[in-house]
Amino acid sequence: MGARRQLGRLESTEHGRRCEPAPAEPQADGPRQIAQAAADAILAGRGNQYPPGPGIPELRRAICDHQRRFYGFDYDPDTEVLVTAGATEAIAAALLALVEPGDEVIAFEPYYDSYAACIAMAGGVRVPVTLRPPSFRPDLDALRAAVSPRTRLILLNSPHNPTGCVFNREELAAVAAVAREHDLLVVTDEVYEHLVFDGEHVPIVSLPGMRERTVSISSAGKTFSFTGWKIGWVMASPVLVSAVRTAKQFLTYVSGGPFQYAIAEALALPDRYYTGLRDALHSQRDLLCSGLAAAGFEVYEPAATYFVTTDCQPLGEKDGVEFCRALPGRCGVVAIPNAVFYDDAEAGRSQVRFAFCKRAEVLKEAAARLARLRHSA
Ligand SMILES: Cc1ncc(COP(=O)(O)O)c(C=O)c1O
Repeated sequence: MGARRQLGRLESTEHGRRCEPAPAEPQADGPRQIAQAAADAILAGRGNQYPPGPGIPELRRAICDHQRRFYGFDYDPDTEVLVTAGATEAIAAALLALVEPGDEVIAFEPYYDSYAACIAMAGGVRVPVTLRPPSFRPDLDALRAAVSPRTRLILLNSPHNPTGCVFNREELAAVAAVAREHDLLVVTDEVYEHLVFDGEHVPIVSLPGMRERTVSISSAGKTFSFTGWKIGWVMASPVLVSAVRTAKQFLTYVSGGPFQYAIAEALALPDRYYTGLRDALHSQRDLLCSGLAAAGFEVYEPAATYFVTTDCQPLGEKDGVEFCRALPGRCGVVAIPNAVFYDDAEAGRSQVRFAFCKRAEVLKEAAARLARLRHSA
């Protein structure tokens, strides 16, 4: 019953009553040497047949090396890492493995749209804790109030899509304290870990008492600008990884063999690659944010990710869904209404999300077209 009710939201998407969020993808592909590594792997016959279920050992080792290099802690590549078909499959497999019908899953809304779908497919009940503008900082009292005897896990996403909020150490410590106190698992989606402009990304698993109860998820899509390759991963204790692997076995079994070799190489790229990616996106963020502000939007500057949330009310618009539906026709710009990321659609009614993972001239052109809207209304 619960699952059916939750799926209602998905069905209404299919019937077009809501806007379906389209993926935002980088305009430029990732490093050429990494694309070459994938091509070489295919031609050399590496990964063209089913790779090992947990992922190729080279990639699992590279994931562990990356974790040690950036955050200073260790996972065992043989028992604590699982390669998945992007973070999306990792989220699905984790929820299918760890949530029983009727279990409650707390997630901060607005949330990445697969969360609602995957909780529903697991038969779980989502319990949203709302992030509100202008700061979108988590309301920790609301989090504590959301816990019930049926709560099974907290589904965390920091850096956060769509708001660009990066939970700070104190906030994460408070989330961790709730998890410990109520013996909850935390599934944490950290796909934007390297796209942080202000503040720092702190993996919640690094906080005391969290190693055994945290399933950490990341992916190569955003970090290396190869979103189509769909290489993601799960890191957790052996017992949790084994549970997630059992669900993953019947979702895709394995995927992306040759790409796994290439991403193993990508993770070992020097620091200047990671800082270069971040710095480029940082200036794209500044460019789009100032353009949107000049066009009349209220802009909630994101600390991370490649999205910026705005409010369209200053343009005389009340409804983000209507505004976004009309926008391509009005000026050839596409945006996503944040309402589709909320259960409480009222909370995000006039919020609109733009993506800045685009070339500077495209961002400038988009801002110029949006600026003309006020005069053409
Ligand atoms: C928060 C979040 N998690 C996961 C994903 C999907 O990652 P992947 O492409 O690796 O499946 C996205 C993509 O937009 C995202 O925004």
